[in-house]
Amino acid sequence: MAKIKTAWFCSNCGVQAAKWVGYCPSCGEWNTYQEEVVQRQGHETVAYKQKRPENKPVAIRSIAHEEDIRFSTYSVELDRVLGGGLVLGSLVLVGGEPGIGKSTLMLQAALRSENVKVLYISGEESEEQIKMRADRIGIQNEDCFILTETSLDIIMSHIDVFSPQMVIIDSIQTLHTSLIDSSAGSISQIRECASTFQRWCKTTNVPVFLIGHITKEGAIAGPKLLEHMVDVALYFEGDRNYGYRILRSIKNRFGSTNELGIFEMQRTGLREVHNPSEILISHRDEPVSGVAISATIEGLRPLLIEVQALVGTAAYGTPQRSSTSFDVRRVNMLLAVLEKRCGFKLNTKDVFLNIAGGLRVDDPAIDLSVVCAILSSSVDVALSPKDCFAGEVGLSGEIRSVSRLEMRIAEAEKLGFSRMFVSKYGMKNILKTGIEIVPVNKIEEIVKKIFK
Ligand code: TYD
Ligand code: MG
Repeated sequence: MAKIKTAWFCSNCGVQAAKWVGYCPSCGEWNTYQEEVVQRQGHETVAYKQKRPENKPVAIRSIAHEEDIRFSTYSVELDRVLGGGLVLGSLVLVGGEPGIGKSTLMLQAALRSENVKVLYISGEESEEQIKMRADRIGIQNEDCFILTETSLDIIMSHIDVFSPQMVIIDSIQTLHTSLIDSSAGSISQIRECASTFQRWCKTTNVPVFLIGHITKEGAIAGPKLLEHMVDVALYFEGDRNYGYRILRSIKNRFGSTNELGIFEMQRTGLREVHNPSEILISHRDEPVSGVAISATIEGLRPLLIEVQALVGTAAYGTPQRSSTSFDVRRVNMLLAVLEKRCGFKLNTKDVFLNIAGGLRVDDPAIDLSVVCAILSSSVDVALSPKDCFAGEVGLSGEIRSVSRLEMRIAEAEKLGFSRMFVSKYGMKNILKTGIEIVPVNKIEEIVKKIFK
């Protein structure tokens, strides 16, 4: 008779190994291997032949479906990221680094939800601390209740009696259940606690927010696993040195993940920023060199952001390339293109790049403004503060067209820019605009147009 077959799996990335290893060669995590049964005794024969199913396939057109019922969290930005409001019975994960403002965001949502009985369960702070935060936020709400507790079993019995209409757990890593021996915050505890809420919110149709910490590598501590279990996974991020906070959705079963919410941390809690471009661009009396404005799109929102570059003679043998909020490899590539196509000798120069406001941008359209900021600093010529840029730069120095050009142009126009440099190839659908559009084909052209 065959034995029970077991194997070891990495609980982070799922890779399989024959025996326990301390370090996962696949994802690089430590201490993540767990033993699991792969085949049980007597199950060598094909299992499906022994079972008769009770359900059967259903034609998709015959399935009845009701519209998702959404309600507003009274925060335009949070509603937007949730896909247009909170869906009843959804499990939402709010992840972020410690101190970024997750508790503030959720407490604010709790306090704003009028006539909704909210239970805010905190395993991290005392009632007084939460009250102090609520006082800073300064919203009065009769229907917001606080429970400080870390035992899942006690929490569930409270919830059953209290029957809230919205639950917030701060944080999932502090909860523990007596069903499992390991300590709070371990993978099995997190999995068990989260799945309890998953079942509970589906049966009662009450939305639940889980706050989760993320590790320094940027994963939700404990695991990707939490992301799989929830309906919506949001990340709250931002540079601590700046006041801006961005709420992104990385998974949403009820809407698009392209949406983005922007907040500003103030003394009285988080303020919603409805027009981010205005704060992302510094206002100066005189134009300075090394600054270029890029018309980017984050998610579905057009944003005008400021790229700052500083090019100086390298003090040491190896020139430094440093950039905040922008990929250094991409900077190196753009520098190589500039050198090859335009003859700018930047290989002996230090290049520093900064995106004002600490916003991390993935949009390739920012390339053109990065190049222009570098050139502007290198030749010490200021660009006109009324100019902005949107274009991806290819290896041969060509300017590629970018998505949603009309939205970018409209935003630039709204903010009072008068000229925008774009790729020649993206011009087809652009009819009439209120600002001057300068089509460029190659990086050399832009150098001629602006710097000569
Ligand atoms: P917090 O919500 O506790 O962060 P997290 O739950 O993600 O760990 O808030 C973090 C910071 O926000 C804290 O350092 C203080 C600051 N803060 C303000 O600046 N203004 C405020 O009104 C509040 C409530 C917090
Ligand atoms: Mg907190």
